[in-house]
Amino acid sequence: MYNSTAPKRTQVAIVGAGPAGLLLGQLLHRAGIDAVIVERQSADYVLGRIRAGVLEQVTMDLLDEAGVGRRMHQEGLLHAGFDMLFKGQRHRIDLNHLTGGQQVMVYGQTEVTRDLMDARQAIGLTTIYEAQDVSIDDFDSQLPCVRWRKDGQMHELRCDFIAGCDGFHGICRASVPAGAITEYEKVYPFGWLGLLADTRPVHHELIYVNSARGFALCSQRSQTRSRYYLQVPLSDRVEQWSDTAFWDELRLRLDPQAAEHLDTGPSLEKSIAPLRSFVAEPMRFGRLLLAGDAAHIVPPTGAKGLNLAATDVKYLAQAFCQFYQEHSTAGVDHYSDRCLRRVWRAERFSWWFTSLMHRFPDSGEMGQKLQEAELDYLFHSQAALQSVAENYVGLPLGFGESAALG
Ligand code: APR
Ligand code: PHB
Repeated sequence: MYNSTAPKRTQVAIVGAGPAGLLLGQLLHRAGIDAVIVERQSADYVLGRIRAGVLEQVTMDLLDEAGVGRRMHQEGLLHAGFDMLFKGQRHRIDLNHLTGGQQVMVYGQTEVTRDLMDARQAIGLTTIYEAQDVSIDDFDSQLPCVRWRKDGQMHELRCDFIAGCDGFHGICRASVPAGAITEYEKVYPFGWLGLLADTRPVHHELIYVNSARGFALCSQRSQTRSRYYLQVPLSDRVEQWSDTAFWDELRLRLDPQAAEHLDTGPSLEKSIAPLRSFVAEPMRFGRLLLAGDAAHIVPPTGAKGLNLAATDVKYLAQAFCQFYQEHSTAGVDHYSDRCLRRVWRAERFSWWFTSLMHRFPDSGEMGQKLQEAELDYLFHSQAALQSVAENYVGLPLGFGESAALG
């Protein structure tokens, strides 16, 4: 029902209908810029992916600006802090107090995606779902193109720009000539086993757990739906983990009070995700501009992925507005540098938080002791707590940028 007839020319061709592509489409529509989205999967498939669900203020503001914030404000849960559990003791990170009044919104990425899809469909904007063999070409010229096959027919869409919002495994970054791109990558020696259940969350805020048995996270989607994660070896398969085994292991990683209050039930979804830090530089090649997971991945500790994608898209929409409304290429020219400052800061925080909270198989006794000392320092230093809090709620837009780029 989300499909429509394929056009031949547009201003911006967006590859990928994840949160990045859909949000860009919405912002461009509001600016009067014509865009078509081409997506490999079906809408239902896109909505079936379960991902993190913590929105920074910058992301909330952007969803409002895109006109899709109504349900988020009604159903999302504002959190003024979170707990960190270490050696059986919980320490609250009071985000509100430490950042001068800021908080985060707990609202699942699936819901953000659904709101964006519904808004796009209500306006009647073109999204080509289930496009096969998508390819891009001529992005070093003034008239790039996107091609795909659907229902046995080939289609070609010419455009002024291609926005590569097709995630980590997409074709946009892969289409850039070798040598024009530098990739930085770190793969962590464990994964996260996630479980979604219609049970009451164990705590009204999130609990990040560093236990001798490995990391755990108690998160939530609503007051009746919980999301939990366990650090597991990369060799584990999800079939090895019955629901009972998951709940038993989670209980062992919690403090006695949380373990006692843990409400268990059948899983709605269970999956294992690897953890990766990844950045591709630059994020622009001629008239191809990458945004979101197509350009960078963070490990999920701290939930920065969606927020980073959202700020890329904000800068990208601004760049296109400058191009079409002010006939200036300055925004497009600065796009990559502007994004990458923010990307590397979020990469640093996500790597640091991951390193602090997980058990690393090869860290040895020295590494373990240093991690414990770092946590001890954190819980007793106002400066360290403030640093965690300001990164968790998200650095303000333009943080550290020169006035020329701001
Ligand atoms: N052609 C068209 N679409 C494609 C192709 C292709 N060859 N390859 C991938 N896609 C689609 C995927 O099916 C997906 O719907 O691109 C979309 C990319 O969406 P996401 O992977 O969700 O990436 P993004 O929109 O950048 O969202 C970033 O998602 O993974 C999380 O942590 C991340 O929260 C962050 C957010
Ligand atoms: C989630 O709710 O899925 C979630 C929350 C916080 C994180 C990661 C994931 O840091």
